[in-house]
Amino acid sequence: MKNKYVTTAIPYVNGVPHIGHAVDYCLADTYARYQRLINNEVRFQVGTDEHGNKIFLKAKEVGVPVEEYVTVNSKKFQDFIESLGVSYTDFIRTTDKDHERRCQEIWNKLKDHIYLAKYEGWYCTGCERFVTSKEYDENHGVCPDHQKAYEKLEEENYYFRISDFKERIKTAIETDEMLILPEFRKKEILKLLEDSPDVSISRPKSQLMWGVEVPGDDTQVMYVWMDALSNYITVLGYPDNPINDWWPAAAEFVGKDILRFHAILWPAMLMGLGLPLPKVLVSHGMVLADGQKMSKSIGNVVDPVEVLNKHGLDAFRYFFLRHVDTFADSDFTWEKFENAYNNELANDLGNLVQRLATLAAKNNIVVENSADINLPKDYTDLMDKFDFSKAFDYVWEKVQGINRKIDEERPWSLAKEGETEKLNQCMNELINELLVANKMLGPFMPTVAEKIATIFTDLIVPPEVPLFPKQ
Ligand code: MSP
Repeated sequence: MKNKYVTTAIPYVNGVPHIGHAVDYCLADTYARYQRLINNEVRFQVGTDEHGNKIFLKAKEVGVPVEEYVTVNSKKFQDFIESLGVSYTDFIRTTDKDHERRCQEIWNKLKDHIYLAKYEGWYCTGCERFVTSKEYDENHGVCPDHQKAYEKLEEENYYFRISDFKERIKTAIETDEMLILPEFRKKEILKLLEDSPDVSISRPKSQLMWGVEVPGDDTQVMYVWMDALSNYITVLGYPDNPINDWWPAAAEFVGKDILRFHAILWPAMLMGLGLPLPKVLVSHGMVLADGQKMSKSIGNVVDPVEVLNKHGLDAFRYFFLRHVDTFADSDFTWEKFENAYNNELANDLGNLVQRLATLAAKNNIVVENSADINLPKDYTDLMDKFDFSKAFDYVWEKVQGINRKIDEERPWSLAKEGETEKLNQCMNELINELLVANKMLGPFMPTVAEKIATIFTDLIVPPEVPLFPKQ
């Protein structure tokens, strides 16, 4: 048994969750559940990122004191995470007092790599990111993600000397000491690393009120990313408690848009602290709505609560883990979702369970040898490579294969012909194959997998209502 620590990006609380936010959680939860399935011990962090100007300005806009605003929205994210069936163990808010104090201690430990200098350049509040003049020119002064002109800043900031760690970060990435997935993102990061200047890690309080104060300088607050990245270790108790039971993280799940912070600034901070790097950074693609980036101004933001209420948790996780590719961008449309629900969940899986359970109950079939189910190697190989959508495809092929086998072997004819022994053998084979598929399904769709396991233990009782009623 090994200890595995799993982390997710902590969302900004300047709005309510949308379907894109679900990706980190669904992937990380699948990984966590898979690790438990193969008998590892899991610690699993989620949380909310609550500082920075973006949030401060939004609270002001809606006329609510910022402390109250972040508390209300953080709760919305926590409720959302729970509604997705996420088996987390730790929930952190960056406004937690312990986190804030620990961030300051982290700052103090990094002091040898920090210096004060003047920053004259650009900033995007949407990204909460300092923008180089090269990027400014390439994007003609407008952030492509937020469609907002970059802000000009002229201020005194603390800088973090990334240059102290560049070579070591490069080696860690090249040798997979910190594995970046998918592989093709590695090159992008190595290029970015080459061009990375030292990073500004504070803002004057006159420009940013809402943040963790820089220790020993009450005129400055910490840059929100420095504060946010620290959450992965402060939640474990660093630096108050030893964290080596859990750290380094086995896997950190992040969207491709924020991989750069996790692959450059974060390892530099960890190196400065003398801590090992996360084993794997899994960078997933974006969910688009009808082929476009979701945005309030386009009005195409899909509300996850609507999807969950309409089709339930299992269907939600099914779509976001199988039809949303683990690594590439994917499109959400209601039509795709409903097709997947009716054709795959209702037809392939729901009908299969109904058919097998009804036949088994009618013919008093007793399931034998179901106790030791081994996971197929093809499946574990894909899961170990974090290629969850492909692993899910593999499981689905098995489900469809069982359906085909039923049609070929026609157990109902065996029953009619009184071939009791053959029927028993055939049904046992089919049910055992379903139980193997079901075990593989567990990390993806835990609720339905549990129902199926219950249906096929001891006395087989077919479900009174189909698992996935057609809609
Ligand atoms: N607060 C930072 C993360 C700090 S982690 C130390 C942040 N927040 S966010 O709310 O903008 O994004 C949170 C996560 O949601 C990120 O992993 C991001 O990539 C993901 N997604 C946000 N929109 C998404 C889609 N449309 N599709 C898939 N993932 C998306 O960045």
